[in-house]
Amino acid sequence: MKKAITLRVNGETREVSTDPERPLLEVLREDLDLTGTKYGCGEGHCRACTVLIDGNPVTSCFTPVSQAEGREILTIEGLARDGALHPVQEAFIEKQAMQCGYCVPGMILTSVAFLKTRSMPTLNEVSDCLSGNLCRCCNYPNILAAVELAAAKLRGERNETDA
Ligand code: FES
Ligand code: FES
Repeated sequence: MKKAITLRVNGETREVSTDPERPLLEVLREDLDLTGTKYGCGEGHCRACTVLIDGNPVTSCFTPVSQAEGREILTIEGLARDGALHPVQEAFIEKQAMQCGYCVPGMILTSVAFLKTRSMPTLNEVSDCLSGNLCRCCNYPNILAAVELAAAKLRGERNETDA
């Protein structure tokens, strides 16, 4: 049965009328036209559908929309501010960390949350953090390099490899 649900998405309040058990991913893509969040496996195994809820990465394919009610949801569409890309987005572009790009919104949002907890991560820590995010193009070396570059940007530095 449908229910009115109020969501906070990318800083805006959005109202939907839907089955509370419906996956958040479907609501974002089909009801709110936020198609940057990707449908991969639909079973919690690839993390293409990652969004942040209250700053933490979640698989939106596996999260009932009712669980997101009243919490702050961030999708890839809400990451840039005032027309400026987030440093993680800049780093992914600079390191060419995408081929088809399908995994990239999830990779970026997972990285954004991770870099709030680690200002100077080791490569192993970056790799561990993204180990659940699958890239079907196997672009992992560039993705890891992008997250290292993003960490440097967030510290106010640039990677020497980026010169
Ligand atoms: S689509 Fe959600 S984990 Fe794969
Ligand atoms: S760039 Fe194609 S899935 Fe990762």
